[in-house]
Amino acid sequence: MSSIAMEVETASSERKHKRLASWVEEVARMCKPDRVHWCDGSPEEYQAMLRLMILSGTAIPLDERKRPNSVLVRSNPADVARVEDRTFICARTKDEAGPTNNWEDPVKMTEKLKGLYTGSMTGRTMYVIPYSMGPIGSPIAKVGIEITDSPYVVANMHIMARVGTRVLEVLGSDGEFVRGLHSVGAPLGPNDQDSPWPNNAVDKYICHFPDTREIWSYGSGYGGNALLGKKCHALRIASVQARDEGWMAEHMLILKLTNPAGVVKYMTGAFPSACGKTNLAMLIPTIPGWKVETVGDDIAWMKFGADGRLYAINPEYGFFGVAPGTSMQSNANAILTATKNSIFTNCAMTPDGDVWWEGLTEKKPAQLMDWLRRPWTPESGRKAAHPNSRFTTPAKQCPVIAPEWEDPKGVPIDAILFGGRRGGVVPLVTESFTWQHGTFLGATASSETTAAATGKVGQLRRDPMAMLPFCGYNMGDYFGHYLKIGTRPGAKLPKIYYVNWFRTDENGKFLWPGYGENSRVLKWIFERCDGKVHATETPIGRLPAPADLDTKGLNLPDANVAKLLSVDVDGWLEEVPRIREHFAKFGSHLPKGMQDEVDGLEQRLKAAKR
Ligand code: OXD
Ligand code: MN
Repeated sequence: MSSIAMEVETASSERKHKRLASWVEEVARMCKPDRVHWCDGSPEEYQAMLRLMILSGTAIPLDERKRPNSVLVRSNPADVARVEDRTFICARTKDEAGPTNNWEDPVKMTEKLKGLYTGSMTGRTMYVIPYSMGPIGSPIAKVGIEITDSPYVVANMHIMARVGTRVLEVLGSDGEFVRGLHSVGAPLGPNDQDSPWPNNAVDKYICHFPDTREIWSYGSGYGGNALLGKKCHALRIASVQARDEGWMAEHMLILKLTNPAGVVKYMTGAFPSACGKTNLAMLIPTIPGWKVETVGDDIAWMKFGADGRLYAINPEYGFFGVAPGTSMQSNANAILTATKNSIFTNCAMTPDGDVWWEGLTEKKPAQLMDWLRRPWTPESGRKAAHPNSRFTTPAKQCPVIAPEWEDPKGVPIDAILFGGRRGGVVPLVTESFTWQHGTFLGATASSETTAAATGKVGQLRRDPMAMLPFCGYNMGDYFGHYLKIGTRPGAKLPKIYYVNWFRTDENGKFLWPGYGENSRVLKWIFERCDGKVHATETPIGRLPAPADLDTKGLNLPDANVAKLLSVDVDGWLEEVPRIREHFAKFGSHLPKGMQDEVDGLEQRLKAAKR
């Protein structure tokens, strides 16, 4: 028996879970690491990962007085974002994956991947990370095991999920778990010098096998490609589990809103990547007496409670936030969260050992080291931080984390928000007529693309429920799942809204100030949930009357408010064929309810023109 197998066997004999132990052993035989380490989730283990990254040149420690226990990591410039074109849903048939996913036959893909993984961890340590998505032991939480050869992944997983031995304890000897295998795809020969950011420049595959609840990720070490608990498990695999088990796995923040009388409502919100979701989740209201607290900033898992309401948990344990644009003005709570115990990736570094990114301070520092390790000055004429540079930071450090953020039963949801980045046509806020109409608003959501994924920035794309890159099955069926949730007997469903903070005037200037001022829109939604404020019926949904939107102290020209809350009938009539085109992609998988909604929208718009 080889020394590797011996080591795995010793480790596995301590473990009660036979299926887990034999899977780990099988992976070790295939990937041929030098050693296998079972992660216990301890602070010492986290420190050991930081030390390893510092020694290998992957990370630089930040100044202890400025950012205690924190590091800056710079990735390879070819590995800086989620790779949607290399992300596959290997369902049994292409039809099951649907028109919005890349599909590959599971047998063929497994063969191909086995070839790539064979020996892929040579010269490296294979880490086995038991993790829980959601508070350990919550009836909504799920366990996963990520195997990886990247200390960066281990350190990030310590922040982003609950990891270690305590998870193995809930798994017991027979618990179900999602299998996640990750390799940077850069084996090391005996005389090879490791690179600061090992990855595979030729092959990158982020593959999901929904039927066997497996994830195989190869070649990238970055963010959602590599931290498998997040997008791969909590969204792509979980969306399939949610469909099968009657719950919802959504790309949504969860916030708690308290009014001046102390009444609380919980809201979730789905926005495409880098559209201000983290900012909204921890917003500081500008209207007196209102308070926002954070339950989650990216993912919500929602299950029906015995009272028929949907209860949401945040399956994550930390925030993986987009750095550029985050400042004390735009999101003070995120800045205050990331003051310590954080990992910064692809940010710039100041001469005194701190991080910097575009938008962090109004005045640019006189000199920096940019994310590509080059000297930088404001005259350099290029960005100092990568547009998708990130901070990984513990959620519990957030000054406005809601005390119930770890409540195993979740929080009852009153309203669901959908949104995107649209310069034109889409009003500031629209309330849906019904759950089905709300599903339609989500299913037709559109946004201008950002830097969170590789590809062109600024192009308009339909991003249904902000799940376009994250739905693990046919999106037509996903819309059907929403409709099914809506018809559950005894369900007391949240109200649904569509918001757009990004409307611009003819000169491209934002009509709405956004950020903390978005609390004014949340207030209207809160009061609608209580039936305390009226709404105007329009062909596209219910809108606030300008007088009902609290704009006190904003100095917003009336013309702006009127425009933000008006329905551009011609603009919407132009949207209708685009919506039909978008829906046509789903063929027979498009639920009739969605077809009815687009027909209804068109009729109402035409009637409004008469
Ligand atoms: C994220 C994303 O990282 O949506 O949250 O891209
Ligand atoms: Mn996200």
